[in-house]
Amino acid sequence: MELAVTDFAASARAQATPVTVKDFAGPTPAITLETPADLAQREALLDLAFGRAARLAKTSERLREGRKPADGLAFAAHGADGRVVGTLRLWHVAAGPARPALLLGPLAVHPWFRDRGLGKAMMATAILEATRLGHGAILLVGDAPYYARFGFDVALTEGLWLPGAFDRRRFLGLELRSGALDGARGLVSPTGAPVEVPSLSELMALETTGGLKRSA
Ligand SMILES: CC(C)(COP(=O)(O)OP(=O)(O)OC[C@H]1O[C@@H](n2cnc3c(N)ncnc32)[C@H](O)[C@@H]1OP(=O)(O)O)[C@@H](O)C(=O)NCCC(=O)NCCS
Repeated sequence: MELAVTDFAASARAQATPVTVKDFAGPTPAITLETPADLAQREALLDLAFGRAARLAKTSERLREGRKPADGLAFAAHGADGRVVGTLRLWHVAAGPARPALLLGPLAVHPWFRDRGLGKAMMATAILEATRLGHGAILLVGDAPYYARFGFDVALTEGLWLPGAFDRRRFLGLELRSGALDGARGLVSPTGAPVEVPSLSELMALETTGGLKRSA
């Protein structure tokens, strides 16, 4: 499903600074919901953008590992040849006890496609979709100067802690609904649906039927 990415004026509800998308030099990468066919290229893009070891060591990853992204909030951008050139996902978390929120990230754009407004378009799409789906707030860990343009603010996370080391100057929040993070206090914890893993009996059955290849 392709998503509209042009209605940035509506992002006022998300308190974001109006976003201007520069003209793309080439065909505009299309932003769609991610599909299983995107997964391998998404992993490669993230490795390129962050380095595999570094990205998997991040504290934010502790809130994502073993979980599915929030429904309707995992996006991919494809270049003209169909390759994944941008990725952005949001995840269910609790921002302290009994306070649902989303965690945004990782956001990555392929180096060849940077500085053309694709990151902004993906962010605006994610904020609009999260608002439309009724979510109240988004948290993230990232470069404050980049995310400030969308309305993300360090002041909204003052009472929150992440489950590991983090730089408080990079821990930011955005209210999609006014007051959604009022008084938020406590540990941010993962609440997304777990990724299904096969049971032991399913694995054993696959092995006997030759469905599992042994690795060295
Ligand atoms: C950050 C990233 C997603 C931006 O994507 P992009 O498509 O190049 O971004 P846009 O074209 O929408 O925006 C470019 C603008 O953001 C600014 N910008 C880019 N990265 C920035 C950063 N880390 N901090 C502050 N500003 C940044 C650029 O200077 C440019 O500013 P301008 O609009 O005033 O000219 C991309 O550079 C990337 O994938 N980087 C590696 C992974 C990463 O750092 N992810 C985000 C983690 S915080």
